[in-house]
Amino acid sequence: MTAGRAEYQRRLTSPDEAVSRLKPGQRLILPTFAGAPPALVAALGRGAAEGALRDVTISAILPGRDIARHLVKPELAGKFKWDSLFCAGCDRPGVFTGQYDMTPMHFGQMPRILRAMPAHAIMALASPPDAEGFVSLGISVDYSRSMFDYAPYRVVEINPNVPQVRGPCRIHLSQIDALVESDDPIAELPEPALGDEERAIARFIADRIPDGATIQLGYGAVPSGVGLALTGHKRLGIHTEMFVDPMRVLIEAGVVDNSEKTYNPGITPFTFVGGSAATYRFLHGNSMIEGHPVEYTNDPVVIARHKRMISVNATLAVDLTGQACSESIGGMQYSGTGGQVDFVRGATMSDGGKSFLCTSATAKHGTISCIVDALPPSAVITTARTDIDAVVTEYGVAELRGRSLRDRAQALIAIAHPKFRDSLEEAARARGLGKR
Ligand code: COA
Repeated sequence: MTAGRAEYQRRLTSPDEAVSRLKPGQRLILPTFAGAPPALVAALGRGAAEGALRDVTISAILPGRDIARHLVKPELAGKFKWDSLFCAGCDRPGVFTGQYDMTPMHFGQMPRILRAMPAHAIMALASPPDAEGFVSLGISVDYSRSMFDYAPYRVVEINPNVPQVRGPCRIHLSQIDALVESDDPIAELPEPALGDEERAIARFIADRIPDGATIQLGYGAVPSGVGLALTGHKRLGIHTEMFVDPMRVLIEAGVVDNSEKTYNPGITPFTFVGGSAATYRFLHGNSMIEGHPVEYTNDPVVIARHKRMISVNATLAVDLTGQACSESIGGMQYSGTGGQVDFVRGATMSDGGKSFLCTSATAKHGTISCIVDALPPSAVITTARTDIDAVVTEYGVAELRGRSLRDRAQALIAIAHPKFRDSLEEAARARGLGKR
């Protein structure tokens, strides 16, 4: 038996045994979305059901398939503490009702905040080890990678379906306390459906992206639509938080070649992946793609090193001065800040860069305007008016950066749905922001 094999065997245990080693009072961190380890998450569910995790706090951003199936579900409420780092999907109802906690933070700052909390344990999904005894976090590098440098308890679920991704996302077996094995297929994220509004918004943005630009696309119908609308572009680059299916399509089509990137030329860095099995396979050993920790991908200074950095993210409502609410509806927490502000700031600090925040002009079958006079009293302001750049609806693009409050209000009213423009103008006038 080689030394690496012996090291592997010594750490190998069952998921239930790995979970049983968590201590009361500890905070366990699970990776983003598809990086949550299925066999360990199932064992956490069993441990919670048996009452063994009553004093353990568990946190993650974007809980996906396995966390919803086994852990964050009504039957287990009160059997462990869930502290959401985002509020999405399965944990949203519990955050609504106060059953779960939520701790807001910028995605790029999570590693530093988790270390200070402190977080004590990480359970991550990784590829089988290479010849030198390194496993790749592959799907979700995010805040997980840094925890292997300091957490007292580090568990890895080895799964042959996890791609061996290049870049600083590898962990040596010596930095792992326990290993378990599984071969579940990696959770996939379906492509969002595109409607006419999303296509129109995507077209406005694609028309404003120059050849040779570096792009970041968030998840959602509009960012996907932008990806699909870029197929006629040339020499694009990618620097992103989330790697999504349309990015694979653009790379395979030769639209993205990273040749004009002014930072990391030739390389697409990302911190987590949400997509199809085809995209996970595409990442395996791909010399053009690198997994990086989120404190790197989402550092506004790193983002700003790319000339013509274009970021595209979604928002829910924007007030007439340019405050964007991307994570609450009617004052209730609906989502999280994620990496939105990291990329808005990085892109606007970039030479020739631009940040687009997109929303349909209306919600709820046209009954609500997403351009509003004022946000509700307890709404969350995700992107401040001092950070915002351009806002896009299916009616056009409102350029807000460097413009007066009056000019902002007028630019936003011009991209609101026509049926809401008169009432918005009236509200603007009442605040001294009406048309001159
Ligand atoms: N008032 C009331 N309801 C609204 C609304 C508004 N102004 N705007 C949207 N909604 C409703 C929609 O009608 C929809 O309801 P439904 O599910 O009943 O149809 C729901 O809110 C979701 O809206 P949608 O536009 O489909 O949202 P999305 O799934 O595209 O997500 C964000 C949009 C903003 C929540 C999401 O992009 C996000 O969380 N952003 C913050 C984090 C981020 O930007 N990260 C970036 C890097 S990945």
